[in-house]
Amino acid sequence: MNRTLAADCNEHIGKKVTLMGWINTIRDHGKISFYDLRDISGIIQTVAKKQYEVGHEYVVKIEGVVKKRPENLINKNIPTGEIELEIESLEVISVAQTLPIPIEGDGYDIDEKLRLKYRYLDLRRQRLQTNLKLRFQMLSFMRQFLASNGFTEIETPILTKTTPEGARDFLVPSRLQPGNFYALPQSPQQYKQLLMVAGLDRYFQIARCFRDEDPRADRAYGEFSQLDIEMSFVEQEDILKLTEELFRQITEKVFKKKVLEYPFPRISHKDALEKYGVDKFDLRKDKDPNVLAFAFVVDFPLFTEQTKEDFYYGSGSAKFAPSHHMFTAPHPDDIPLLDSNPAKVRGLQHDLVCNGYEVGGGSIRIHQREIQEKIFNLIGFSTEQKEQFNHMLEAFTYGVPPHGGIAPGIERLLMVATGEENTREVMAFPMTGSGQTAVMNAPSAADPKILKELKLKIS
Ligand code: AMO
Repeated sequence: MNRTLAADCNEHIGKKVTLMGWINTIRDHGKISFYDLRDISGIIQTVAKKQYEVGHEYVVKIEGVVKKRPENLINKNIPTGEIELEIESLEVISVAQTLPIPIEGDGYDIDEKLRLKYRYLDLRRQRLQTNLKLRFQMLSFMRQFLASNGFTEIETPILTKTTPEGARDFLVPSRLQPGNFYALPQSPQQYKQLLMVAGLDRYFQIARCFRDEDPRADRAYGEFSQLDIEMSFVEQEDILKLTEELFRQITEKVFKKKVLEYPFPRISHKDALEKYGVDKFDLRKDKDPNVLAFAFVVDFPLFTEQTKEDFYYGSGSAKFAPSHHMFTAPHPDDIPLLDSNPAKVRGLQHDLVCNGYEVGGGSIRIHQREIQEKIFNLIGFSTEQKEQFNHMLEAFTYGVPPHGGIAPGIERLLMVATGEENTREVMAFPMTGSGQTAVMNAPSAADPKILKELKLKIS
C-alpha cells in the first residue's frame, strides 16, 4: 500500500500524498472544515472546503497535497505544526461508534476496569504508546548489548514443573496424563542453571514469569517479564559489573536520563537496614525524576525465618526459608555454619535497587549436590518435595561450572524510568488486580466436554 506517515509529510511539501489513520478531531467552520488525522507517527491537520460524513475515530484514507501553513496559523506544539494537507479525496475505510472511554489525556482518572476491558482503545492513548515503544527500545538494546557480550538468547519451556520463587504456581491439567499437571514457571531459574551444566556459558532470555501472588503497585498479578541472565565461571562481582554497565547504557541511551553514581554503590544488607531502614532505598536527595540512583545490596543472610506464608517450603514447620531462593549459594566462609548456626550464614545474593524499588535480584548458585541437599533439609523439604528437584541434584553430578546470574524485572524498571506508579501502565494487556485478563475476561468456565477429557470434576 502506498501511504505516507503524518510525521513524514514535512518532507513532502508541495507534493501529493496518501494518508491513512483515525479522525482525531473535527472542527467545522462552515465553509471550511479541519480534520486532524492520527496515525502511529502523530497528528496532522487536514483541511477541506467542504464537509465530509465522518465521525471521531473513523478510519479514513485521505489524498491531498501537503501545504505550508500561513505564518499566523503555525502550531509550534506539534511536529507537523508548520504544514497541513489540502484534502482532494477522503474515503471512509471503517466507521466508529462513540468510544466507551476517552482516549485523550493521560487516562489516570478513568475507572481501570473500563480501561482494561477496552484496552485496545486505551492503547490508542499517546502515553501508553510511548510506554510500549520505550519498552521495545529497552528490550532491543538489552538484546544487542548482551549479544555483543557473548550471550546466547535461549527460550525455555512454559509448560513445565514447579520452579518456586516464593509464590503459588499456576497449574495446567494434562490431557495425556489425566490427574497430572504442568506448572507455569515462576522464573526460568532451573532451566538457566541446567543450560550452564550444558556448557552454554552465557545465557539470557526476555522471560515471561507466572506467579499467583497478591498484586501490589510494583507487582503485577499473574504474569510479568524479566531480563533473565546466567553466566558460568563467574564471581558475584562479574555479574554486578555486567549489570551496571548494561543499566548505565540503558539509562543514558534509551531513557535519556542520568545515573546518580557509577560504579553503582554496593551496600551490605545490614548497612542498608541500619542506614535507610529498608533494603530498597532511594539514594536521590532531591528525588529528581531524570536521575536513576542504582545500587546493589549484597551480603544478605542466606535464610529468613520461616512463616506460614512460606507454604511451598515447610509452611512454618521448619525454622528457615531462603532469603532469595533455594539455589542461592552460601558465602564460602560460612559453609561450616550451615551445621552450627544457619541463621548466621551469608548468601551470595545481590539485589539491584533503583529509586526506592527492587528492580532485580540474583545470586551465585550452589553447584555442589551435598550443599543443595543440606539447604533442602534446612528449609524443611519433605522427601516428596526433595524428589521434585532430583533432576537438579543429578545434574550436579555430571560436571557443573560455578555459575550465577540476575533477573531484572522489565516492568519494574520501566515503571521507575517512566515515573509510572503501576506496572500495568507499561504492559500491553495486563490483568486487573483481581486476576481478570484485559479484554478477554479470563478466567472463564471450561466446556464440560473438555473437563471430562481431562478427567476433572469441579467440586
Ligand atoms: P526474583 O523473584 O527476585 O528473582 O525476581 C526478579 C525481579 O523480577 C521482578 N518481579 C516482578 N515484577 C513484576 N511483577 C511481579 N509479580 C514480580 N515479581 C518479581 C522484580 C524482581 O526484582 N530467578 C530469580 C532471579 C535469579 O536468581 O537470577 C528470580 O526470579 O523486579
